Amino acid sequence: MALCMYPELLKNPGNMFPSDVLERARKILKGFGPVGAYTHSKGSLSVRRSVADYIEERDGFPSNPDHIFLTNGASPGVQKVLQCLIQHKNVGIMLPIPQYPLYSASISLFQGIPVPYYLDESRETGWTLNLEEITRALQQARKKGTDVRALCVINPGNPTGNCLSKKNIEQIIEIAHKEHIVLLADEVYQTNVYSEERPFFSFKKILMEMGPDYADQELFSFHSISKGMVGECGLRGGYFECQGVDQHIVDQLYKVASVDLCPNNVGQILIDMMVRPPVAGDASYPLYKEEMGDIYESLKRRSAKLVAALNKLEGVFCAPAQGALYVHPQITFPPKMLAAAEAEGQVPDEMYAMALLNATGVVRCLCVRLTF
Ligand SMILES: Cc1ncc(COP(=O)(O)O)c(C=O)c1O
Repeated sequence: MALCMYPELLKNPGNMFPSDVLERARKILKGFGPVGAYTHSKGSLSVRRSVADYIEERDGFPSNPDHIFLTNGASPGVQKVLQCLIQHKNVGIMLPIPQYPLYSASISLFQGIPVPYYLDESRETGWTLNLEEITRALQQARKKGTDVRALCVINPGNPTGNCLSKKNIEQIIEIAHKEHIVLLADEVYQTNVYSEERPFFSFKKILMEMGPDYADQELFSFHSISKGMVGECGLRGGYFECQGVDQHIVDQLYKVASVDLCPNNVGQILIDMMVRPPVAGDASYPLYKEEMGDIYESLKRRSAKLVAALNKLEGVFCAPAQGALYVHPQITFPPKMLAAAEAEGQVPDEMYAMALLNATGVVRCLCVRLTF
């Protein structure tokens, strides 16, 4: 990144940069041209090719750079897609609860209707996505006359830390296909996976494996430089891939992207670095491997530590995280606390969250789930 931003360094790098880094910076600059200039509105073709190669290698199925949009993080990508889907006030978008607020906020911004489906929480299996619940939520919304157009899935999950099984993903695709619903797969935590029994499978891979009967299933998949071991969230880089999406919609999205002229080039360069990291044999590989390994182990260790600490608290249960950067505990309130809340006319979980906030300053825990 430093070399791309200040190419003069390439002329006289001293011994500050390993040889493969110099070579890589030259290649990136060749693909980009001057880094201060606008790129294609979908993002630089050279970076989109790198992303397509990454997806092909990850999933074992072809990926078309023309169907990839580089964005200033996953969030603007999600927003662009939602903006195209919500074409009138009666459009419903299904979203998981608990969720990451990008979805509810964007649906509200574009004046769509949020159609919540509730994730299941069990002591045996942790957080899971229950298909009957999806069908219930869909039918209920349709009964009310809502034009349900899309289903958002966050996998691995924020804030639940669950990772969907292959079978579960297949079933979700089956429902979406049968019900003519577009799928939005938020996969920004795809490398934050901690359980060997529950590896990450992309929706794209599973959809492709389901064969030609599902070729018309429309899927948008999102990824980002903000998470994983890269974690450069302030530099704003992400992409989304359109699979099976009607060409007319891809063209509309291109028009919407053109309004922003182009995604920022720093973020684009970082996407290229994320999807094409140093490989064995490169001079910078040993350091890269060591740093990535350390970050991964540290995240995994801290996640387990947090779960253990929460499970030591009275009335608190927390399933181990299978992925992402979160755990979402279940808190069982004692009858005395429930009675106090009732006497004060307060909702118990809100009361708990406010007490927690006042006592500790912790504010991210506001979605406490109440159990009796
Ligand atoms: C599930 C999920 N999607 C998207 C985002 C936003 O990603 P970005 O920084 O790439 O916009 C986050 C950030 O926390 C997230 O948790």
